[in-house]
Amino acid sequence: MTATLDCWNIADLRERARRRLPRGIWEYLERGVEDEHGMARNRAALDALTFVPRVMRRVEAIDTSASIFGKPVPLPLAIAPTGAAGLIWHKGDVHLARAAAAAAVPFTISSAGTMDIEEIVPAGGTQWFQLYLWRDKDLSYDVVRRAHLLGCEALFVTLDLPVIPNREYLHRNGYGMPIKANRRNVPDMLLHPRWLAGVLGRYLLEDGRLPTQANLPAHLKHSVARGAKPGAHFKQDDLDEDALRHLRDLWPGKLVLKGILHPDDARRALALGADGIVVSNHGGRALDGSIAAIDALPAIVEAVTGKLTVFLDSGVRRGSDIVKARALGADAVMVGRAALYGLAAAGEAGVARALELLAEETRRTMAMLGARNWDEVSRATLGL
Ligand code: FNR
Repeated sequence: MTATLDCWNIADLRERARRRLPRGIWEYLERGVEDEHGMARNRAALDALTFVPRVMRRVEAIDTSASIFGKPVPLPLAIAPTGAAGLIWHKGDVHLARAAAAAAVPFTISSAGTMDIEEIVPAGGTQWFQLYLWRDKDLSYDVVRRAHLLGCEALFVTLDLPVIPNREYLHRNGYGMPIKANRRNVPDMLLHPRWLAGVLGRYLLEDGRLPTQANLPAHLKHSVARGAKPGAHFKQDDLDEDALRHLRDLWPGKLVLKGILHPDDARRALALGADGIVVSNHGGRALDGSIAAIDALPAIVEAVTGKLTVFLDSGVRRGSDIVKARALGADAVMVGRAALYGLAAAGEAGVARALELLAEETRRTMAMLGARNWDEVSRATLGL
C-alpha cells in the first residue's frame, strides 16, 4: 500500500490540491469552459447509472485485470494526456509517468506538456504520445517520429479542439505558458508560498529557467517562449481525414483518435485505419454544450464493438465509474483530473495514491456486484 496521505478518495486529493495551488493554476486544472454544463453533465450522467448487484456468489477472488492493445494490465485504466503538469508540480510529467509505471497503468504524454518526450520516457512503463498538430506540420511530424523512436506505443490524436476553447478564467487569472509575471498572477502566487518555493522556485534554482511548452526543438522553444514564432503554435482547424491518413502512414504503432462523440465519427475512425478511439468530451473543457461522454458511449460501442479499442474519459472519479464504463462496453477508462489532483497533492506519491484508490474501489465495487471478472460485468449489471 502506498502512503494514504490521509486521503480516502479522489475528492480528498482534490481538496488537498485546491489548497496547495495558486488560484489561477487550480482553475486551469479544475475548470471546464464557459458555464461548465458539459463538466456537470459528465458527472450527472455517471451518477444516474445505477447498479443491480447479484448476491449468493463467492467473491473471494476478484480479477480486475484486462488487456489494452493485447497487453495485460491490472486494471482497464490509463492516464489521459494533460498539459502543463509542470506548473502543478516540479517536473510533474515525470511524476505522473513514474507513478503510472509503478502501478502498470499506461501513461499518455501530452503535446502540451512541460517536458520533452526524452525526459519522460525513462520513467518507464507503457507510454503513449498525444498529438495536437502545430501550425508547422513538419514540426508535428518530427515530434511524432521522435515519439515513435523513443518507444511510445500509441499515438493519440486529439480531434475535439479544432479551435482554442473558451477558458475565460485563464484571461481573468493572468496565466499562460510560459508563466509571465503580471499584476493578476503575482499576488496569487505570493499567497501560496509552498507552491512558489516547491514549484516555481525549484525551476529557477535547479533548472535555471521556467518551464515552457515542450516537444519542440530547442531553438523553437526559445522563440515560442517569446511568442515570436507563430509557426510553433497549435493549429487544428484544418485537421481532416487527409491529415489523419497522413498520420496513419507515418505512425507504425497503434493510432487512437481522441474526442469522438458520434457513432459515425467512430465508424470513420475505423475506416481510416485507427486502432482505437477515446469517447470523450475533453472533461468538459472543449464544447460546453456537448453530450456527456458516458451518454455517447453505448451507440458508439454498438457501431464499432470488437473492431476498435474503445476508451472512455470525462468525469471519472471513482472505481464505480470504471465499472459503469465497462458495463456499457468501454474497453478501458482514462483519467485526467483524478491523476492531477494526486499530483498537486503530493507529486508522485499523490498520483500513486489516486491510482491505488481507483483500483481498490473497482475491486470492491465488483465484489459488491457479485462480478468476479469483467466477463461478469455487462449492461445487465446496470439493470439494462
Ligand atoms: C486535459 N486534457 C487534454 N487532452 C489532450 O488531448 N491533450 C492535452 O494536452 C490535455 N490537457 C489537459 C489539461 C488538463 C488540466 C485537463 C484537466 C485535461 C483532457 C484529458 O486528456 C481528458 O480528456 C480529460 O481530462 C478527461 O476528463 P477528467 O478525467 O479530467 O474528468
